[in-house]
Amino acid sequence: MLEIGEDGRTWLLSGPASSYALRLGEDDALLHLHWGPRIALADAEALAAGPGPEYWAFEATLDGHEEYPVEGGPRFVRPALSVRTDERRGTEWSFETYEADGDELRLRFSDSGLGITLHYRMRAGTDVVERWVTLANEGPALEVLRADSAAWTLPHRDGWRLSQLHGRWAAESRLVRSELTYGEKIIGSRRGHTSHQHLPWVALDADGSATEERGEVYGCALAWSGTWRIAVAQLPDARVQITGGVGYDDSGLLRLEPGESFVTPVFAGLWSDGGFGGASRAWHAYQHAYVIPDADEHRPVLYNSWEATEFDISEEQQGALARRAAAMGVELFVVDDGWFGARTSDRAGLGDWTPNPDRFPAGLKPLADEVHALGMQFGIWVEPEMVNPDSELYRAHPDWVQFQPGRKRTELRNQLVLNLAREDVQEYLWEQLDTLLSSAPIDYVKWDFNRCFTDAGWPGEDYPQRLWVDHVHALYRLLDRLRAAHPGVAFESCSGGGGRIDLGIMARTDQVWTSDNTDPLDRLAIQHGFSQVHPARAMAAWVTDSPNNQLNGRASSLRFRFVSSMAGVLGVGGDLTRWSDEELAEARTWVELYKEIRPVVQGGDLHRLRAPEGGLSAVQYSRDGEIVVLAWLQAQHYGEPVAPVRLRGLDPAATYECLETGEVHRGAVLLHHGLRTGLRGDLDAAVFRLRRM
Ligand code: DGJ
Repeated sequence: MLEIGEDGRTWLLSGPASSYALRLGEDDALLHLHWGPRIALADAEALAAGPGPEYWAFEATLDGHEEYPVEGGPRFVRPALSVRTDERRGTEWSFETYEADGDELRLRFSDSGLGITLHYRMRAGTDVVERWVTLANEGPALEVLRADSAAWTLPHRDGWRLSQLHGRWAAESRLVRSELTYGEKIIGSRRGHTSHQHLPWVALDADGSATEERGEVYGCALAWSGTWRIAVAQLPDARVQITGGVGYDDSGLLRLEPGESFVTPVFAGLWSDGGFGGASRAWHAYQHAYVIPDADEHRPVLYNSWEATEFDISEEQQGALARRAAAMGVELFVVDDGWFGARTSDRAGLGDWTPNPDRFPAGLKPLADEVHALGMQFGIWVEPEMVNPDSELYRAHPDWVQFQPGRKRTELRNQLVLNLAREDVQEYLWEQLDTLLSSAPIDYVKWDFNRCFTDAGWPGEDYPQRLWVDHVHALYRLLDRLRAAHPGVAFESCSGGGGRIDLGIMARTDQVWTSDNTDPLDRLAIQHGFSQVHPARAMAAWVTDSPNNQLNGRASSLRFRFVSSMAGVLGVGGDLTRWSDEELAEARTWVELYKEIRPVVQGGDLHRLRAPEGGLSAVQYSRDGEIVVLAWLQAQHYGEPVAPVRLRGLDPAATYECLETGEVHRGAVLLHHGLRTGLRGDLDAAVFRLRRM
């Protein structure tokens, strides 16, 4: 809901639990008033009429109070907007007008022909505020050095704690919390993709006071899949401002010729007083309603061949895996890397998106038909943004890659990055992928990205830096175009595991590959971090072989592996030709169980009951009186009994029947005393289904 003050200079956006207010002050300064619990317009106006920012020698009165600090004038904070023309640098804006368009508020400013529109939208039914900026240039050509999507301001508190999700390959999305101190904390990516190192999300709670279920939490998440930066600044007066947007350095993003415009991605903000768990549930609900395509459709159980066969694949061998997968109850069979061009190792073939004639003599259709005849959907792997120098594509177009003239072309995983900012490259990829998707009944595409940008040059182009931004826009357009032309095809975002997970890519893909780490124990921590912001409905998780042959050699039971993967979109990725009949039969019962609990896991509310750092961890999903609890024990010590897990969000006055044990539990008892799991030993796990009676 959007309310506007009588003088047309105060604006209030409200969701079910929270409000966001701002005010146009003197000299057209746009001042932040409120972000927090729901307030009335009169409260916002009282805040506006209250004492303004105080003067303090050697400080800028506006710092920490503005909605979008531009470069120039009496400001010392990091500017959200920095532009320059041949003649001048910085911005001195004048307010033009505002527009209220449904839930969206647009505030228009201008400076010498540059139109700057700040957009605000509180999505109906959520407490998520989406903010973004449009720059429309009607003046002389200008360079945009920095254009953040928003600056978020937190209220005065004694101190703040920062939560972030950091990692590296095979160790993504790990949650870390630390006290915020004076100065700036910067996270981001200079790699051309979202990165394994940081997810574009932060959360802040005052004085470290929030718990999983209680307390105020502020969160911000950026919808961008390229290079990005989020800066969390604690200013000299202890105020905290969070800016975020495209690009890591401020060395130039793009040039706007007269008549050109640039729209930043959304930087979304959320206030919740339900603790970290409440904030996560609010983020999940927002993504279900407004980000993830067709989020109310459940994702199928998939089989992926990568860990089983890597590059050594053939039609017959994939068929054998498919028959075993189908017998297990798998619903979607995905052939990973190695089916195309000369791709028999990671040294060749990327760029040539036609089936390898030795491996698939009649193309992909015979295998796709066989998979369909087995009752499954058929999917394939691609990595369209890349090329191996040993490929037909590179031999024909060596200038289609990113490179710096006169410098070595850095190969990582033996591959180079295609310059997607070029229209000929965009058109080539569209034709290749459109043809591929039309050549066989393909239902699913796993879209990978396996190396960072290093030599982001574009010889012959006047303003080569723009390829960083243009690459992401071209990727988005390509995905949008393919989705429109092939509406039945689902897409998975993968980047060597979880290197491209953000709200931008999630708006165009149906699920994401969470990590190449399929060790079921490590996965619990990775999934714990992922769930802080993204929902189980998008989190792909495979059961692979034991001992884990990719990473650490750890042995674990099928039970432990399945229960770990059942916390998200279940997949299987082991070498099924080596699984015994008993293992295959057991796996079938787990897949059956998953299908039963899937509506609750993929569509329900998540409560993280116990974090994975202790010996015992557990999550709970609830939907319409159906409860699913997944619990894992890493190691039992001294023979001590394992603590019961306390459930959340139940009706204390109701009773719940456990389908596993047949026991009837009182809600109040489950909430206060907990559910006994019976877990023991090392790497034990269990699933409990409870139904409200
Ligand atoms: C990286 C992905 O994360 C893996 O799952 C697999 O698809 C390989 N790439 C294939 O090259």
